[in-house]
Amino acid sequence: MRVLVLSLLLILSYSCKTETTKPPVKAPIRGLIANKAMVVSARAEASKIGKEIMLKGGNAFDAMVATEMALAVAYPYAGNLGGGGFMVYRMANGDIGALDYREKAPLAASKDMYLDENGDPIPEKSQLGSLAVGVPGTIAGIFEVHEKFGTLPIKELLSPVVDLAKKGFVVTEKQEKRFQHYKDLFLKVNTDTIPILRGYTANDTLKNEALASTLERIIENGKDEFYKGETAKKLVAFIRNHGGIITMNDLKKYKAKWRKPVEFKYKDLKVISMSPPSSGGICLAQIMKMIEPHDLTSFGHNSLKTIQVITEAERRAYADRSFYLGDPDFVKIPIDTLIDNSYLKGRMDSFSFDKATLSSEIDYGQIPGYESEETTHYSIVDSFGNAISVTTTLNGAYGSKLYVDELGFFLNNEMDDFSAKPGTPNMFGLIGAEANAIAPEKRMLSSMTPTIVEKNDKFWMSVGTPGGSTIITSVLQTILNVEEFEMTMQEAVNAPRFHHQWLPDVVVFEPNSFDKTLLQQLQSKGYNINEEESRIIGKVDGILALPDGTLEGGADKRGDDTADGF
Ligand code: GLY
Repeated sequence: MRVLVLSLLLILSYSCKTETTKPPVKAPIRGLIANKAMVVSARAEASKIGKEIMLKGGNAFDAMVATEMALAVAYPYAGNLGGGGFMVYRMANGDIGALDYREKAPLAASKDMYLDENGDPIPEKSQLGSLAVGVPGTIAGIFEVHEKFGTLPIKELLSPVVDLAKKGFVVTEKQEKRFQHYKDLFLKVNTDTIPILRGYTANDTLKNEALASTLERIIENGKDEFYKGETAKKLVAFIRNHGGIITMNDLKKYKAKWRKPVEFKYKDLKVISMSPPSSGGICLAQIMKMIEPHDLTSFGHNSLKTIQVITEAERRAYADRSFYLGDPDFVKIPIDTLIDNSYLKGRMDSFSFDKATLSSEIDYGQIPGYESEETTHYSIVDSFGNAISVTTTLNGAYGSKLYVDELGFFLNNEMDDFSAKPGTPNMFGLIGAEANAIAPEKRMLSSMTPTIVEKNDKFWMSVGTPGGSTIITSVLQTILNVEEFEMTMQEAVNAPRFHHQWLPDVVVFEPNSFDKTLLQQLQSKGYNINEEESRIIGKVDGILALPDGTLEGGADKRGDDTADGF
């Protein structure tokens, strides 16, 4: 008996010891969990309005109309009436589709419109003020969504937004900083009477009566109000007075277009993402297929090998992007070849873990710098099982900085997404070829990557982000973080990110988030590292379907992003 007791004590003390030497298990960080429906967007007000539409019985598409417009009120940095965007959807029955409400070049646009007498681009011309503005697509986009899928009247969808504009939203600290940061540029193209220049600080309430009136007229007269009516006339007169070239005919001719999304398999996932004129879906497909043969899970999250494989796949995908992609209504894009497995296997033939491939060995180009960039993304899932993923933009922060005071919104500077001169970089350092040259009525190439992922034929994730050229790589890392590295949605969004885009031949890392030894190891293999420019990479918002049928939101705290649901 004594022997038995002693042996038991020994076993117990041994098992206690082994327990205590195990590293502590970290509790997972989870985002908001909702049982039925959720919106994750850049602003709490927009997420709440979208949620309330669904609480009233509206579906994800109804919520999209309201959320998109609420962002235009509370997030003028990127939310818009004066810009454009893309939506990818997956219906409860598995049907998928995509809407392109990207801006178009005006009829009077021409290939060399941003070049000086020596044939060199004048970046300010395509980035600041009236000549930078593409024909806006957002209002056409929300009406197209409403006509095809909406279930509640437009008045019911937009009235809460009108109320928000009238009552105002509370300025956050991040917003105050941005208002300050862009002050000089606002003053360059506007008078000092525009609301954003009225010295708002954090916790002040910003009301927008002019936008409330514009929205009221749109509720009354529909899409035509923006493209043919009083709003159109005011908009065209304003642009003309500021030296721009958009006419009533440009507005009248604008149409949002339904597109076939890009679909591809990655292991047990089916990824559905945006097709041209966005490069997002094709680039994402190329990168994921190039990394698929490598066992990232065993390499580890943000480990040397994982970063190498992802960077090299990105290098090759962005080189193809630059050459082949543009508006599919104007250029023939070899989509099937670009995402073909054997083609992509061949592209990775030159990859080795021993040293970096030089971008100059992959293709030609020059070395430009980065600038900050903005856009915004939101994801919505409704209680009927429909899911949408929407990315919308003015391009740069507050677009062209040109504010239509009488109508209450900023105008985009999307024209900068064209290649003003093939071979020369745009504001994201992206180089384009003839495929993305300017032509009247053409849509400029985008990087926006609103994406929906299925697992086992069921909805699994809706995800996307702002971030210009870094959009594609941020979406990629978020999907991989959940699929390969078993993170929760919120952890996947929080995780530090890196980015490579072929040219410039630099891997950008979020500052102070990566181990110094790791960065030195990468440098010794020939990678050019940049983590000094203090910049964040993306503000990812996503929704993940959990195995128990609930939804987890991932709202990026790099911004003021918020999940809301029920
Ligand atoms: N304007 C950013 C993009 O469309 O990618």
